[in-house]
Amino acid sequence: NTGIAMIGSGSATPPVSLDNQRLSQIVETSDEWIASRTGIRDRRVADPQTSLCSLATAASKQAIAMAQIDPSEIDLIVLATSTPDDLFGSASQIQAQLGATQAVAFDLTAACSGFIFGLVTAAQFIRTGVYKTVLLIGGDILSRWVDWSDRRTCVLFGDGAGAVVLQASECDRLLGFELRSDGTQNGCLNLSFQAQPQPLIDQITVSPGTYQPITMNGKEVYRFAVKKVPEVIEKALFRADLTVDQINWLILHQANQRIIDAVAQRLNIPSDRVISNLANYGNTSAASIPIALDEAVRAGKIKPGDVIATSGFGAGLTWGAAIFQW
Ligand code: ACO
Repeated sequence: NTGIAMIGSGSATPPVSLDNQRLSQIVETSDEWIASRTGIRDRRVADPQTSLCSLATAASKQAIAMAQIDPSEIDLIVLATSTPDDLFGSASQIQAQLGATQAVAFDLTAACSGFIFGLVTAAQFIRTGVYKTVLLIGGDILSRWVDWSDRRTCVLFGDGAGAVVLQASECDRLLGFELRSDGTQNGCLNLSFQAQPQPLIDQITVSPGTYQPITMNGKEVYRFAVKKVPEVIEKALFRADLTVDQINWLILHQANQRIIDAVAQRLNIPSDRVISNLANYGNTSAASIPIALDEAVRAGKIKPGDVIATSGFGAGLTWGAAIFQW
């Protein structure tokens, strides 16, 4: 089987920021409440001109440039998102905007676990020798789907996209992974379709409708993350035949600083090896891991050969971990 290497990263966020102070003019909240409970101080929001495809394409161009490949070399584009511009899928539009003429492109939905699920999916195509070069994007515009009058959710999320280029390699740098789902807890976190039934003819009723804003049981999601994320990282480490002290960096889905701190503590990972950009961007769903990764790579924090443990978790419920070497 062929090995997998990550050879480029990129990220893009909308220019408009909405800090806690300004949010407190919209809903009854405060910088103190939000920052102390979540670590979030600022977030970026997409204006009506900013599409998911434009963010994803911008992030992809950076990743392609770092990888020093031509877009025509890309065999597959996987877009992990829950907020496509088009429910039929947005990956093809990105393929067109990049001029990745040879690539097949599709969307993958796994909420905040999307990047990890996408990474493992992309890796299978490389492992089997079917494809050589894959562009993986995690991107979401959750500002489209929050209820901006609900202070329990609207303070948490932000918009953005991150991308990586994966390529077949003799030296395998995807060292281990583990994916999980638990649909029995689906009701904890939803962005669900609500039908408005419309009798059509005779006995036939159809159900047009629309998606409803995000609903979340914050306490349940918190408990779930703090319990399951350390377990799944330990499992992925076991598969990689590594121990916690061999990890250079921990990059978790950026949902809440308290979740990040609790997981790091349970795994005994010192805080100077934990990457967090939550203060600037809030929870960008499928984009949070690749944005954090890209920023740390560009800042020179993550160096070639470093071992990174990463974990995504969220709606579904879904969660997973991957251990890879930069
Ligand atoms: N500002 C001020 N007060 C608030 C706010 C706010 N933004 N939000 C809630 N409150 C109030 C509540 O109304 C409640 O008041 P009450 O007691 O008078 O009813 C009080 O604060 C406590 O509310 P809780 O919801 O119990 O607050 P909690 O301490 O649980 O913190 C939080 C809420 C931060 C959401 C926490 O539960 C959490 O982080 N959970 C994890 C959520 C998460 O990470 N979700 C995303 C992961 S999955 C994914 O990424 C899609």
